[in-house]
Amino acid sequence: MKPISLAWHVCIVLLATALFAATSAAQDAQSAPASTPSPAAAQGAPEAGGQNQRPPHAFPAPTNLKVLPKDLTGAQVREIMQGWAGDLGVHCDTCHAVDTKNVGPNGRPRMDFASDEKDEKLMARIMYQMLEADKKDYVARVAEMDKMDEPAAPLTCGTCHRGHLDPEKYTPPAEHPPQGAPGAMPGMQH
Ligand code: HEC
Ligand code: HEC
Repeated sequence: MKPISLAWHVCIVLLATALFAATSAAQDAQSAPASTPSPAAAQGAPEAGGQNQRPPHAFPAPTNLKVLPKDLTGAQVREIMQGWAGDLGVHCDTCHAVDTKNVGPNGRPRMDFASDEKDEKLMARIMYQMLEADKKDYVARVAEMDKMDEPAAPLTCGTCHRGHLDPEKYTPPAEHPPQGAPGAMPGMQH
């Protein structure tokens, strides 16, 4: 009986091992298709998720504001910057330099927003000062007199730039001759 018993034991162990191997192979085979896209998705996920819902520390407090109010938060600066970029039809790197020594996980250098390396940034500072002076010293005075009209659209970078880095030259359309010629507006003559 002993040899048979041993044989049976061996058999059972072998069978169990075979079954186990077969089952796990089947499981592997089953889970393989499901798990195959996961690594790819996992690779993409932090990128996509990171862009849509950045943690607050992704907008550090500004360190080099010279014309904007110095107490702006990182998020407030970001919002203003997105407005400027949209008004001029450009991306952030039109005005901001990259930090070649600071390479991000995607292998591309990160922006150095505090750097004053690019002329476009320096010109934008002048433009912002012009805009603020215009609003305070001129637009506000006209708006004060212009009581009959609805408040006009606020003066922004987009008022002049209209989606272009260099404002386009305005040429009146040919079908509208210059106004104000004698006789054209008799009511204006006193
Ligand atoms: C038209 C030029 C221009 C564009 C486009 C632009 N910026 Fe700026 N950015 C500036 C200027 C000018 C300043 C500095 C303002 C100041 O001195 O008060 C600045 C400052 C900043 C700062 C603060 C840096 C610091 O530490 O002082 C951040 C952050 C920033 N920009 C982010 C962005 C982002 C993000 C974009 C794209 C969405 C962008 N900028 C697009 C001109 C620009
Ligand atoms: C009153 C109209 C007006 C407004 C408002 C205005 N700009 Fe400009 N901007 C101009 C004109 C005109 C030029 C072209 C100057 C030149 O190069 O001859 C210019 C040029 C620039 C340039 C340089 C473009 C280049 O060729 O590199 C930048 C950058 C700029 N503006 C940013 C801004 C920003 C940012 C704002 C808002 C804070 C703004 N501008 C508001 C009229 C305006």
